[in-house]
Amino acid sequence: MPAYKPGIFITGTDTGVGKTVVAAGLAMALKSRGMKVGVMKPVGTGCMEFGKRLICHDSAYLLEAAENEYPPLTSPVRYRHALAPSVAAVLEKREVDLPQIRRSFGELQKNYDFIIVEGIGGLLVPFSKDYFVANLVREFQLPLLIVSKGGLGAINHTLLTIDAAVIRGFEVRGVIFNRMAKTNVSLAEITNPKVIHELSGVPVLGSLPEMDDLDVDTCRYGRLKEIFQERIQVDQIYSVPSLPV
Ligand SMILES: Nc1ncnc2c1ncn2[C@@H]1O[C@H](COP(=O)(O)OP(=O)(O)OP(=O)(O)O)[C@@H](O)[C@H]1O
Ligand SMILES: [Mg+2]
Repeated sequence: MPAYKPGIFITGTDTGVGKTVVAAGLAMALKSRGMKVGVMKPVGTGCMEFGKRLICHDSAYLLEAAENEYPPLTSPVRYRHALAPSVAAVLEKREVDLPQIRRSFGELQKNYDFIIVEGIGGLLVPFSKDYFVANLVREFQLPLLIVSKGGLGAINHTLLTIDAAVIRGFEVRGVIFNRMAKTNVSLAEITNPKVIHELSGVPVLGSLPEMDDLDVDTCRYGRLKEIFQERIQVDQIYSVPSLPV
């Protein structure tokens, strides 16, 4: 089996958990270490229409964070509806163009040292009746980073996602908790990271707090770069030796 490629596939326990924020924070942290980082959101849904063009907020956020030079490769497939790709594909009468996604990923790999791919929702979001986000993880041969909410419910959602990854033979490099309360931190938020690590064996690489002046849709980063570097074990994400699948 081939070794993992230099990069990471960021998935989540759900949609809206903070994959884009984590991907952007990681891109900025790696860039400040002198790495040439490429970013990708293979399928953008809920895109904005500008004339005949569809603009994906996530891609715009990632591109600015990584200062990438090849915008079309980052966002090869876009839909207007905020739906699972398979459903948007039917409504918009356009199948998910997997060959285009593969070509874009290949081009990005040629141009960058390390590729950060943001998944779509979670691992079992469908592109068609027989192709899911997990199939793309397998094709890209990237290890996973899981973004999860910190509070009540996180144990179940995070362990389900880890299970779905492990039964497919994927390496889970770690879990990051997002949007931890700044004040009145709940008991669940305090205890969950240790419990999840003990039950799964997967490293918890840190947590991000609720941040001011940060918004994906309006491309605002606030102190994301600094906070990401302070709170997340960035080295663990990229410097683990390549392992076979
Ligand atoms: N730590 C944070 N502090 C403040 N706002 C945040 C934080 N993390 C995420 N958000 C906001 O929450 C929303 C969802 O975050 P994000 O877009 O990163 O989630 P996602 O998992 O990428 O969602 P999707 O599944 O739609 O791609 C965004 O509006 C973002 O600005
Ligand atoms: Mg996103």
